[in-house]
Amino acid sequence: MSDEPTITQESVDAAADDALAAIAAATSTAELKAARAAHTGEASALARLNAQLRNVPNDQKAALGKLVGQARGRVGQALAAREEALAEAEAAAQLEAERIDITAVAPRARVGARHPVSLLQEEIADLFVGMGWEIAEGPELEHEWFNFDALNFDLDHPARQMQDTFFVDPVERHLVLRTHTSPVQVRSMLEREVPIYVLCPGRVYRTDEFDATHLPAFVQFEGLVVDKGISMANLKGTLDHVARQLFGPEAKTRFRTNYFPFTEPSAELDLWHPTFKGGARWIEWGGCGMVNPNVLRAAGIDPEVYSGFAFGMGVERALMFRSDVQDMRDMAEGDVRFSEQFGMVV
Ligand code: DAH
Repeated sequence: MSDEPTITQESVDAAADDALAAIAAATSTAELKAARAAHTGEASALARLNAQLRNVPNDQKAALGKLVGQARGRVGQALAAREEALAEAEAAAQLEAERIDITAVAPRARVGARHPVSLLQEEIADLFVGMGWEIAEGPELEHEWFNFDALNFDLDHPARQMQDTFFVDPVERHLVLRTHTSPVQVRSMLEREVPIYVLCPGRVYRTDEFDATHLPAFVQFEGLVVDKGISMANLKGTLDHVARQLFGPEAKTRFRTNYFPFTEPSAELDLWHPTFKGGARWIEWGGCGMVNPNVLRAAGIDPEVYSGFAFGMGVERALMFRSDVQDMRDMAEGDVRFSEQFGMVV
C-alpha cells in the first residue's frame, strides 16, 4: 500500500523524536498516558514502522529490525523514566496537600482578664464589708429628685450646675444619668432602718471630656453612716483606716474646707500617698462631710436624734495613683493588654 511508511533512519528517528518530545512535554501521569497511546499504540508511527518489518527483504530484516527496535527501546525507557518521575512528584504533592502537623500547637482561645477598676472596686467593697458595713446599690438612670433635690440642691441653686449632667429625654420625666453615687445615700436611708452603715460603689456619668484625667463614665464609691452620736472624728478615723488599707501603713487623710449641699460641714478629702511614684505627696481624692440635716429630713430621719457622715471618692483616680496609671483613657478602652498587667488580684 502506498501510504505504508518506509523504514529508514530518518523515518525511524522522526517517529522516535516525536515520541520523546511528547513524553518530555507531559506534565502529569494522565498526559503521559495519552502520549504513550499516541506514540506507542497500534496507530502510532513507530508501531506502523515496526509492522513494516514483515514486508522488508530478508537481507535487510536484521538491520532494519535493530533500527526500529532501538528506537522503540529508547521511547520505552523514556516513558518509564518519565512515568516514575511524574508519579513521584504527584505523590509528593498529594502528601504535601494532605499534610497534618501533629506537633503544631492548636490556637488557644485567648482568656481575658478582670478589669483593674472592677478588681479595685471589689477590694474596696470587701474592705468595708470587713468592717461590718453593707453594700447598697442604686440605679444609674436616676430620678432628678434623688440625684439633686433630696441632696439639698435647690432648684435654682448654682450647685446644680456644678455637675454637668446628662438629662434624659423627655425632660418632663426628670431622669438623669446619675452624676454621683450620693443619691444612693437617700435611697439607703429610705430603704433601711437606722443605724446605717453602707458603701455604695457604682458607675456615674458626667458630660466631661474624654482625656488623660477625665472620663464621661467612671466609678465612685460612696460611704454613708447614720447613727447616734456620729461625729467628724468617726469620719476621719474611718477614712484613715481605708487609706492605710489601700495605700499602705503610712497613708493618711486630711480635710480641706469645701462646700457640698448635702453635707455640713463639708470637706475636700486629700490622701497622703507615701509610695507615690514621683515621691510621697498629698493628692486630692474626693469629698466628705457630716450629712446635712436637710438630707436626713428628706429621708425621714430625725436630725435631732441621729447624725451621720458621708464620703465619695473616685475608683479610677485611686487606681491611677495607686498603680501609677498615667492616662485614664487606658481604663476605658478595654484593651486586654492593659488589664492583664494587673493579674487577677490588684
Ligand atoms: N458626690 C460628690 C461628687 O461626686 C462627692 C461627695 C462629696 C460625696 C461629699 C459625699 C460627700 O458623700 O459627703 O463630687
